[in-house]
Amino acid sequence: MLATGGLVMMIGMYILLLDRVAVVTGGNKGIGLEVCRQLASNKGLIVVLTARNDQRGASAVQKLKEAGHSNVIFHQLDTTDALSISRLADFLKSRFGRIDILVSGCVPDCKACIYIVKD
Ligand SMILES: NC(=O)c1ccc[n+]([C@@H]2O[C@H](COP(=O)([O-])OP(=O)(O)OC[C@H]3O[C@@H](n4cnc5c(N)ncnc54)[C@H](OP(=O)(O)O)[C@@H]3O)[C@@H](O)[C@H]2O)c1
Repeated sequence: MLATGGLVMMIGMYILLLDRVAVVTGGNKGIGLEVCRQLASNKGLIVVLTARNDQRGASAVQKLKEAGHSNVIFHQLDTTDALSISRLADFLKSRFGRIDILVSGCVPDCKACIYIVKD
């Protein structure tokens, strides 16, 4: 039983390593939401939909899940709030160890994006 559990965990970790990770800011509506939807239609891609408002973000993720996109997760991000930016950076680092795609759906010169990529 333990061996099976260990194998399942190893396969899960292997799949996680194969997946690419995309992060989208301002993902709860407009261009950001559409980018999330299109990215999520790619198999092997995990989409981290971020929004400054928890409820709006969670509701957008829920809608995408209902449309069949189970590979979307939510994390809060207000691109003007340093603490929020570093919380997201910590989450991405500990959960995935990297990001592969970063799309700013909120402002063209997103400072949070620069920080997250550097960190
Ligand atoms: N739509 C166009 O045709 C077009 C054309 C050229 C350029 N753009 C530019 O592209 C960007 C997105 O356009 P859009 O039409 O998709 O706009 P939108 O529908 O107003 O969506 C903007 C998104 O950015 C989020 N946002 C704003 N400030 C934020 C912050 N401090 N932290 C995190 N998220 C924040 C909003 O969240 P809330 O829901 O919480 O407000 C919303 O999710 C804008 O910069 C716009 O000027 C748009």
